[in-house]
Formats: sequence, structure tokens, C-alpha cells
Amino acid sequence: MAEQHAQLTASEQDSKPRPMSSRKPIRKAVFPVAGLGTRFLPATKAIPKEMLAIVDRPLIQYAVDEAREAGIEQMIFVTGRGKTAIVEHFDIAYELENTMGERGKDMAVLDATRATPGDIITVRQQVPLGLGHAIWCARAIVGDEPFAIFLPDELMIGNKGGTGCMKQMVEAYAEVGGNLISVLEVPDDEVSSYGVIAPGEARGNLTEVRGLVEKPPRGQAPSNKIISGRYILQPEVMRVLEAQEKGAGGEIQLTDAMAKMIGQQPFHAVTFDGRRFDCGSKTGFVEATLALALEREDMGAEVRRMAERLLAN
Ligand code: UTP
Repeated sequence: MAEQHAQLTASEQDSKPRPMSSRKPIRKAVFPVAGLGTRFLPATKAIPKEMLAIVDRPLIQYAVDEAREAGIEQMIFVTGRGKTAIVEHFDIAYELENTMGERGKDMAVLDATRATPGDIITVRQQVPLGLGHAIWCARAIVGDEPFAIFLPDELMIGNKGGTGCMKQMVEAYAEVGGNLISVLEVPDDEVSSYGVIAPGEARGNLTEVRGLVEKPPRGQAPSNKIISGRYILQPEVMRVLEAQEKGAGGEIQLTDAMAKMIGQQPFHAVTFDGRRFDCGSKTGFVEATLALALEREDMGAEVRRMAERLLAN
């Protein structure tokens, strides 16, 4: 083994994860928002996918609110061309606020868009080379701390009276440390469309992760627990991503980098107690819109009547 190790190139050695840093709180979150959003064209030609709204809140707002609920202080947006609206959304809109103030309008609707000065940081991914590459672009700001990742187009809604997905993960992290991904159980016949975990021992909502398989062929999935868009990772993943190895679709994949951390550092899955909507797909987006509109006190009854009318025709 020692001889084999000596044969590794310098870049291969750099890409090997090192022992886990001592347990630190999760203060930083990375939001990769530099993707092209091609599945939503032409809607996303001039508007970032992450600014598409479910009822009246853009997807990015749901993700940032979930991060704040989990105690995360610093939001790092990995942006690209045409994504400035995301940063604008969390800025103060003086003209809008002045006009609303003059007209006596309630400005509480803007509360969630106010950022504490300095808590939103942007870095640029010049070319969308893949999710793993987007995360790597944030390495200087992440530094040597464990950090959270949110894929804003996966909308995670906690059960009524319960907490959000990242808060559940931060609580699990306090118990086991290391790396965590959120998972959901889906029916067996749906598993082959997703990234799936190979499970080890399970306790409560925690399952040890022994492996990660991307889109397993039908009947060959190691479990029905699919990876959903929330992660807590140790900073060593940046050294793995540094190697910039291309994976499925010719993209630098986060899943490949995470797979290399398994066995080197603790790795667990947290089964999310709540619902996930895949808002990167059109049908998932419509489903989320309907579900959340139906639950709203201010419009739920009316939306239900409308839906019933439409279905009756
Ligand atoms: P997706 O593959 O779902 O987003 O990536 P996309 O590429 O924007 O969408 P389609 O498939 O073309 O419709 C998951 C997340 O990773 C980000 C995306 O913005 C999205 O939030 N991403 C993806 C990046 O930031 N950079 C990339 O190179 C790729």
C-alpha cells in the first residue's frame, strides 16, 4: 500500500480527503445558483430559475429562510451571468420602500428580504462546469469550516409545527458530526431517476452512508433513500473537488467528491421529516405551487374551489 501511495501524482494526493477538522458550528451556507436553468426556458432566459416564485416567494427566499432558521449566518451565493436579480432581491430597494411608505402600504412583506450587512456574499462561477465546480468556487470564503449547501430548486417544507430540513440536519450534526446529506424515501419504481445511498446502520432518522449511486438501473438500487438538495460537508471536500475530475454528463459532480469522503470521515444521511418538491422540473414546480397555495390561510379555500371547478370541466 505504501508503495502504491508513493506512486500517486501530486494532484491525486491533494485530492485525497484528510482527517476531519474538529467539530465547529455550521455558520456558512453555499447556494449554487449559476446553472443555466434550461428546463425552464424561455422563462429563465432573462430571469434566474431561483427567482421563480412559488405563490409569492422566490425559490431562493425559501432556501435562505430555511438557512436562517437553522442558525446559519453567512449566505454565499455562487452566481453567474444574468443572476444579479438574486443579489438585488436581498438588497434594500430605497425607491420601492419610499413609495410604499408614502402610500401607507405594509412593508412587513419585505422583512424576509432584508439581509444583515455583510451576511450575503457572492462569488462567480464563470462557466457552469457542474455542481461540484460551483461549490469549489466558494472555497476561499468557506475556509476551514464545515458548511451547508442548499440547492434552491429543491424546495423542502417541514411538516406543520415541525422544523425545516437544515435545522433537522444541524441537530443531527450536533450528535454525529462529519458529513451529512438529507434523504427521502420514494417508492421503489421511482428510485432509478435519482442519486441513492447505500445504507449502513440506522438509528432514528440517521443512517450511516456506505456508498452513493447515481441513477441505479431498475431493480439494482441499494435502497429507496434518495439524495435531496441539502448537505453539511467538511471543508476537506474542497481538496477533493480541486482535482476537477469530470463525471456524469461531463460535469464536475458533487456526488463523486462526496463518494471519496466516505470511509475517510463519518458520513450519515438524515431522513427528512417533511416534503420535498423538485422545482427544477415543471411538474414539480406546479405541484409545489398548488400544495402551498392550498395550505395558505389567505387563499387556500379559493384555490381549492378553483381547482375543483377546473377538474369538473
Ligand atoms: P441543476 O442541474 O438542477 O440546474 O443544478 P440547472 O443546470 O440550472 O438546470 P437545468 O437542468 O439546465 O434546467 C442544481 C443546482 O446547481 C446549480 C444550479 O443553479 C442549481 O441550483 N449549478 C449547476 C451551478 O450553480 N453551477 C453549475 O455548473 C451547475
